[in-house]
Amino acid sequence: MQDTFVIEGLAGKRTLKGAIAVSGAKNAALKLMAASLVFRDRVVLKNVPDIEDVRRMADLLAHLGAKISFSRGTMEIMPPQNGNLPEIAPDIAKRMRASVVLTGPILARYGKVSFPHPGGCVIGARPIDIFIKGFDAMGARSVSDAKGYRIVTRGAHLVGAEIFFRKQSVTATETFMIAAVLAKGTTVLKNAAMEPEIEDLAKFLIAGGARVSGVGTPTVTIHGGGFLSMRGKTHTTTPDRIEAGSFLILAALAGQDVEVTRLNPAHLESLTAALTEAGVPLSVGKTSIRVHPKGKVPKLISQSIQTHEYPGFPTDLQAPMTILLTQAHGEAMVFETIFEGRLNYTESLKGMGADITMMDPHRILVKGPEPLKGRNLESPDLRAGLAFVIAATIAKGRSVIHNVYNIDRGYENIEGRLRKIGVKIERIPA
Ligand code: UD1
Repeated sequence: MQDTFVIEGLAGKRTLKGAIAVSGAKNAALKLMAASLVFRDRVVLKNVPDIEDVRRMADLLAHLGAKISFSRGTMEIMPPQNGNLPEIAPDIAKRMRASVVLTGPILARYGKVSFPHPGGCVIGARPIDIFIKGFDAMGARSVSDAKGYRIVTRGAHLVGAEIFFRKQSVTATETFMIAAVLAKGTTVLKNAAMEPEIEDLAKFLIAGGARVSGVGTPTVTIHGGGFLSMRGKTHTTTPDRIEAGSFLILAALAGQDVEVTRLNPAHLESLTAALTEAGVPLSVGKTSIRVHPKGKVPKLISQSIQTHEYPGFPTDLQAPMTILLTQAHGEAMVFETIFEGRLNYTESLKGMGADITMMDPHRILVKGPEPLKGRNLESPDLRAGLAFVIAATIAKGRSVIHNVYNIDRGYENIEGRLRKIGVKIERIPA
């Protein structure tokens, strides 16, 4: 049994008020933690969110022999000194996609790695062929069976290589950036992903002495050079742009005057552009964005969206944005281009009263505005889980959201923070 959220909906009223602060990015923190394996001494990370996935990644590192302490957003990691268990603990890895990033540093350090097929949100097939091909190019052989994969370097080390990614992949780009630090020679990643979390990882590696260039462009070059050292410096995790974007969408729907703080507006341009087009008044500051700054209540206008690799519209904000579109005037198409199973949650929205037509697994048509009614909901994955919290907040009546583990995986104390701005949300422990 898992905890549930009970939410009393605002029935379309705009009553939320106040400031809500954004945590450090899950999708950055997990990779920074994985990268600690290519450091020779203690690593100190700040602004690390206290969430399930971070705790599980800490367990995976501990399984490898790392010593970890974590308190009030600061994580200290002492990398394993002479670890000899190059395995990603299967029971944990099966729950979390980001575990696959550990393959890079483990293989680079120990010359071998074994792991199960990585789990995570059920939003599509999520294959790992790009990883296998990349390791092959860097001089490693892989075998797989029902239990998972085993990869071994042909020589003592990985060797630098030119790797063209068939698709832009966030975790593959990160995995090979980290692995290349310990590889012999130069690695060039082509058609690399450009997400801000990758830039954060690069900053961390560079602070430790790595030679990485081209991050933020599709061609990233890494000169291998051996273990890194922070020499007492700390690294602060970049803000979570997905959490920030979800709060902005909630504020656009139910806010009277809400300020989302501790974010980086430059990471949110595709969303702020879409919200502005939809008629949401925003006031963009240096590290915060205020929604409805003059207290005006706008009529939301429908906007079609198409998910895209960064800097395009993030697939991780597709579900929250769809909630907004159910309340906007007109008809919008939502085109999910990255994952093939990422629109299934819309069935539940239809149950709440939304007018949504599934055209094919990648496209839906949303007609609005349609008032939503509170319902029993099952959080299907992390991002759609938070989208359901938004839907329940604007709906009429009470909603109960089950499977809250899927929300806790990605968002720290979400109910406490949402309550502060006026969301009527309670956690019922299992
Ligand atoms: C990361 C994020 C996730 C986000 C996604 C897209 C983490 C932990 N997760 O996931 O929140 O939704 O980026 O922004 O950072 N693909 C292959 N073969 C591979 C690898 C990927 O075909 O070996 C495909 C995927 O199925 C998908 C596309 O490439 O269609 C992009 O996926 P990718 O960027 O790898 O997503 P993740 O890194 O898993």
